[in-house]
Formats: sequence, C-alpha cells, structure tokens
Amino acid sequence: MKINGKHYRSVWPVGEDAFGIIDQTKLPHELVTLTLRDVESAAHAIKSMQTRGAPLIGAVGAYGLALAVREDASDEHIQKMVEMLAETRPTAINLKWALWRMRGALLNHPREKRAALAWKEAVLIADEDVAMSEAIGQNGLKIIRELADKKKGETLNILTHCNAGWLATVDYGTALAPIYLAHDEGIDLHVWVDETRPRNQGASLTAFELGSHGVDHTILADNAGGHYMQQGEVDMVIVGTDRVTANGDVANKIGTYLKALAAKDNGVPFYVALPSSTIDWTIADGRDIPIEERSEDEVLKMPGRLPDGTVAIVEIAAPGSPAANPGFDVTPARLVTGLITERGTCPATPEGLRSLFPEG
Ligand code: MRU
Repeated sequence: MKINGKHYRSVWPVGEDAFGIIDQTKLPHELVTLTLRDVESAAHAIKSMQTRGAPLIGAVGAYGLALAVREDASDEHIQKMVEMLAETRPTAINLKWALWRMRGALLNHPREKRAALAWKEAVLIADEDVAMSEAIGQNGLKIIRELADKKKGETLNILTHCNAGWLATVDYGTALAPIYLAHDEGIDLHVWVDETRPRNQGASLTAFELGSHGVDHTILADNAGGHYMQQGEVDMVIVGTDRVTANGDVANKIGTYLKALAAKDNGVPFYVALPSSTIDWTIADGRDIPIEERSEDEVLKMPGRLPDGTVAIVEIAAPGSPAANPGFDVTPARLVTGLITERGTCPATPEGLRSLFPEG
C-alpha cells in the first residue's frame, strides 16, 4: 500500500540478517520504521504491539525465528524460541501457525542449512500472506458489487471494527482489501470506522489507512454502530479475525460480538474476512479460544497529541479504580453471514469451511 506515494509492506526483509516494520504504536501521529536484528526485538515488537494484526504477527514471528536460527540452529534452541515467540500473544492463531510451519520446515534438515532455509521460509510466509489478502479482496469485492447494485446509485455504507487492513497483514489487508478494490473500481462507498477502544486501532490505524488511500470514512464511537444500523445507515459489516474454529466461531477484537448482535437484529449482513492461516482446525468451538488479557492501563489511560504537537499519555479514569481489559471476544457462527477467504466465501459452518478447505 502507498503512503504519500511510497509503497510499503508492513514487514520487509533488510538484507538477510534483519527485517523492517512500521512502529504502529506511533501512528497516526508519526510514521516511524524500525529495523529488527534479533529474535528478542521481534518478540518485544509483537508483545508491545509495535507490530500487530493476526496475519502480520505470524509473518513477524517467522522472521524473528529466522534471526534466532542464525545464532543457534540446534533443535533445542529452535524449540525454545518457538515457545517464547508463541507466548507473546495468545489469541491470534496465525502466530503459532507460522512458527509451527517454520519449525516443520527446519527440523528435518542439517543444522548448517537451517539459517538459509529459515530466511527463505519467512520470506515465503510473508509473500503468501500478500497473495491470500489479494484473493480475499477479489472474493469480497464480488459481495460488495452485489450490495452496491442494490443501492441503485446511492452510497454503500460499510462498517468495520478494529484494523484489518494492510497494517494488520503484510499488504492489502483482509476486511479492508475488498473495500480498497471496490473504491478503486469506482463503487460509491463510505466506511463507518469503529474507534475500537481501548487501543483505538480503528480511529488511529484504519482511519489512517483509509485516509491515505482516499476512501471516504467516518470514525464512530464504538457504541454508535447499533444506532446507525437501526437508522438504515449500515448496509454491511466486514471485520477481520484472529482465530476461526472448526465450527465457524470467530474471535476478533473486543466489541465485535456486540456489532454482530446488532447486525443480526437489524438484518445487516455480517461478513468476516480471513486467510486460511487463521483457521484453527484443532478447536471445535469458540469457547475454547484463549482470550488475551491486557494491561488495565490501556483502559485507564489514553495516548494522544497535545496542542503543542507532542504525544502524551493522559489518565482518563477516576484515580484508583481498577479496570478489566479482555483483548478479544468470540462471535458465534450463527451471527456470521459468511466467511470470505482466499478460496471463496462460505457459510460459517463446519461444512462450509470443509467445502473450501477439505484438507483442513
Ligand atoms: O490486538 P490487535 O490490534 O492485534 O487485534 C487485531 C484484530 O483484532 C484484527 O481484527 C484481526 O487481527 C484481524 S487482522 C487482518
């Protein structure tokens, strides 16, 4: 994707012994890139959410492991580093998927070949993610075209939650990929962007992406989506996901479930866009997905830019009050209209998933 005319991916190789990321904790106020040269920096970047979004942390985890293998290619070290990286964020399955794939690609080979193989595999994981996002975009575009046709010349209003754009993947995005394609082919659309408290990925990242691409959008307080659905101001919802279980349940950023309930009540189609690396075939039901508990500071404090241009963190809550901060919730499959994947769109059911991914 382009920022100020320059093409970026969200992660990129720097030679064969380092890789670059955009520091997403600095957006939208500053565009800062970081070069990571060791596995510890990669783990820190994922944990601190300098880099984030389910598919992207998979690719970053893969690059991080590749750097670890350069230092020590023994079975024991690889296993230890896979476990260390996998623990940085528990809900998105893409991270474990990428680490397990890396481990599988390395352990049957002689140690002296592992460093080169690991780098190659990490580059491949990133490139494949781009291809999957592009295909998701094309498949989602078909749905947007159909809904836009029904609007007969009126603007199509799409609501999204959190950030499932190119900043959350290696490029293009999942939920936002079809929106970019629809915009580029001239479909008249407008995006309602949930601010996505407590970390504001909607207000700070999705709005930044859409604005950079010239897509018409409006930031909403998270609580306003239901109201606009009742008013007939939302034609469809598209969100991303961090893990889909074998029955079609969907974990995504906290608050997604409430949007799905409101969408159901108002007859608004609710789509979830995902690459197949987000499907966890080992879990039958969303109730077993581990939900990340994050720091209460994210609820009690807020970063923002002061009038003098400096960025500061301010306290917004009654001093001394505790806070709870689950990072994700689970939307039951029955509330999901369809899963948009790189192989097409299917119902959120075991049969639907198996029809597209029989090997799963
Ligand atoms: O905590 P985050 O910002 O990593 O959460 C991201 C989301 O919930 C996204 O919607 C999800 O990862 C899908 S990204 C294509």
